[in-house]
Amino acid sequence: MSLLLALSLICGLMLNVSFSTLSSHYCVPRKTVPYQNELKSFREEGIFNYSTMLMRDDLGVLLLGAREAIYALDINNVSVRKAAVYWRVTEEKQRECTYKGKHAEVECRNYIRTLHRVNDTAMYVCGTNAFSPTCDYMTFVNGQLRLEGKQEEGKGKCPFDPFQRYSSLMVGNDLYSATSINFLGSEPVVLRTSDLALRTEFKSSWLSEPNFVYMDFVGESLDSPDGDDDKVYLFFSENAMEYDFYSKVAVSRVARVCKGDMGGQRTLQRKWTSFLKARLDCSLPEPSLPPIVQDVFLLKHDDWRKSVFYAVFTPQSSLSQTSAVCAYSVSAIRDIFSEGKFKTPVAVETSHVKWVMYTGEVPVPRPGACINNVARKMGMNRSLDLPDKTLQFIRDRPLMDEAVRPLTGGPMLVKRGALLTRIVVDSVLALDGQRYAVMFIGTENGYVQKAVNYGGEMLIIEEIQLYENPVPISTLRLLSSKGQLYAGSEFGAIQMPVSNCSRYDTCVDCILARDPYCAWDFTAQQCSSVHSSSPSSKPALQSLKEGDASQCPQPDPVAAVDFTLVPENNIQLPCQIHSNLAQVLWRFSDQTLHSNNKYYIYSGGLLILSASESDAGLYTCHSVEQISGRTYNRTVAAYQLQLASGPGGGGSATPGNEVTNSSGTNHGRKMAATARPPNEDPLSPETQSNPGRVTHLEVAVALLSLLCLCLMGVIFFMWSQGRWGCFKFAQRSSESEGKRQSAEYMHIQNRTSEIKLLGPECGRPFSANNNHSAVDFKGNGEHHFTPMANISSLDGLGYINDESEI
Ligand SMILES: *[C@@H]1O[C@H](CO)[C@@H](O)[C@H](O)[C@H]1NC(C)=O
Ligand SMILES: *[C@@H]1O[C@H](CO)[C@@H](O)[C@H](O)[C@H]1NC(C)=O
Repeated sequence: MSLLLALSLICGLMLNVSFSTLSSHYCVPRKTVPYQNELKSFREEGIFNYSTMLMRDDLGVLLLGAREAIYALDINNVSVRKAAVYWRVTEEKQRECTYKGKHAEVECRNYIRTLHRVNDTAMYVCGTNAFSPTCDYMTFVNGQLRLEGKQEEGKGKCPFDPFQRYSSLMVGNDLYSATSINFLGSEPVVLRTSDLALRTEFKSSWLSEPNFVYMDFVGESLDSPDGDDDKVYLFFSENAMEYDFYSKVAVSRVARVCKGDMGGQRTLQRKWTSFLKARLDCSLPEPSLPPIVQDVFLLKHDDWRKSVFYAVFTPQSSLSQTSAVCAYSVSAIRDIFSEGKFKTPVAVETSHVKWVMYTGEVPVPRPGACINNVARKMGMNRSLDLPDKTLQFIRDRPLMDEAVRPLTGGPMLVKRGALLTRIVVDSVLALDGQRYAVMFIGTENGYVQKAVNYGGEMLIIEEIQLYENPVPISTLRLLSSKGQLYAGSEFGAIQMPVSNCSRYDTCVDCILARDPYCAWDFTAQQCSSVHSSSPSSKPALQSLKEGDASQCPQPDPVAAVDFTLVPENNIQLPCQIHSNLAQVLWRFSDQTLHSNNKYYIYSGGLLILSASESDAGLYTCHSVEQISGRTYNRTVAAYQLQLASGPGGGGSATPGNEVTNSSGTNHGRKMAATARPPNEDPLSPETQSNPGRVTHLEVAVALLSLLCLCLMGVIFFMWSQGRWGCFKFAQRSSESEGKRQSAEYMHIQNRTSEIKLLGPECGRPFSANNNHSAVDFKGNGEHHFTPMANISSLDGLGYINDESEI
């Protein structure tokens, strides 16, 4: 086994990126756009943590909050700084902070964490201010940024700890914030700062070590038949209270409060009477602990019922590298809060409390409901008028029994590899007159993934590297009207257009990209933006769901490039494929070439080892891509290899061609520096300078690679039989399988998932009518966890479904 491990390690190192065929079975971005310096970016020397953004399109600026600085950047070009204001921590504050045991240069600084619009000229700003949160008003007038110097108390509005996640939202003149209210970070609150301030109860049933990520406002009072109120939704993760588990398990939640809430009269005085929360279900294809919500974006629709929350989830166990995006309709969340059953705590055995479905009578007006027509009819026009019975009920039972299910039954996107961090979603009008949701998702290694879900099929159109270093993207903002995206990280802000159709240089490539922003323009013969190609009278082609490029004009045949063959030399023929989902195919005189002791096919091209006279002829490099059952075979490059006329004849090779000499003399060799990045050259300068051994080394490498490929193929096959891939898998519940334990300390009762590998692309994760996910946390005792070691004594608790059974 250790031999196998060592072998696969060597293989992994050797094969490196060249054999992407294996990884293509995951949800792989079709195109990878490496870091380019042309993107507009902003950073100031000595300033870090550019993590707070406020778009003020009305003022033409992007406000960017960093550590001890706030900038007003041109919203059309963030590299243009219009104004800046510095808000440094005072020496005294810094000293106090270090006395309390915090790091002077890291924690005892002022991190700008809150930036909200107040009115046409003013903003509200809060900073951590050396563990002593402080807020202020800021104006942008006549091109100048100015802090008012009001120094308001920021406790509860902004975290003490700069590393702590939090969320806040300005609705009218009210600031809603979800953060810790004390120095230790141990007292979480959801707070409304207004004429009538309200907060959550300090009870672990309300909030248990939460990690707040997002808040947004939904104007549900609009045309509401039941006279309902507007709501503020909050997304966070916290310790689960509904599972039996020995160690802490986190769950993802959505909570909401009513805008018109004024607290209770005796019970819940100055506390929310409308704080309700529910678990968010987002099941990964592999069995795992519940994934943790990291960021959310509300894709708004004119009709709020059709608005959708898109949420990014990452695994709670570091063993897993699988992130997902799940989407939830506002109306589904609303239904659970306004009609769903509650959970209630029940004492089981000694001091053990279990949360189960409440089956008793629910008081009227319904606990947690906003003041609506039902309450008004009973003569209650404010939450202050609500009866104690309703208020006591909700004080003790803020959790809903049922979890919120994703809109599509399962994730919109599943991605292995670097974890996803932030998300924004654009609604794009395509040529077919339909709107498509395009997700832009930041990663922990400085990329943005641009992804869509076409009727269940997952597709990552492209991944764009925004930062040269692998830094996490900590902020992502979208200005849809201008087609711009803004990203923030520790090291600066970057602006990126939502699309760059010119990346696709042929019609086939443009169509296969399936990018709703782009279409092939027959007149201009280029891939261009759907919106820039003004009137739709221009004939243009787009095929988003099908990826059907059959209407594309026939491409001009690829002209063969002449190459000179010097016997005994290694010959390198470059070939770059445009899509990560395509496979490379090399052909030579009607034969398909494979990597063996003579040929070595790598990501940058083909290597012919120790060429002989019989190798002369025509070589063609093809890109073979499958989309929706169609196969597109395109010739990418062609080379005519001709025998050198005599010794040293290699010197006559056409410039740009490349014949690598291994005979020790350097004449007859020309490097094509432009052909490909140097790091993909299998013959590094060191090996070239030791020519006698190059051939043998190369042969050895090629042979070993082949061996490794076979080995990895076998491993992959074995693995794929038992595990899942990111894409098409079907699931089935089985009643007979009984209990099973996974490596992730979990036990799923009477349900196992069956996963099938279906194809090389990302795909449909769930059949439409399948509501059961691989791991189904109902949390009402139907399923429960046991640690790895079998603890049967807990089994008795696992079968309580609701209160009536106790
Ligand atoms: C701010 O950026 C610095 C420099 O990269 C980093 O060391 C520090 O951890 C960051 N602080 C926060 C709160 O993210
Ligand atoms: C904007 O708000 C600030 C702070 O509340 C206030 O001082 C200022 O008068 C307001 N300006 C306008 C134009 O309403």
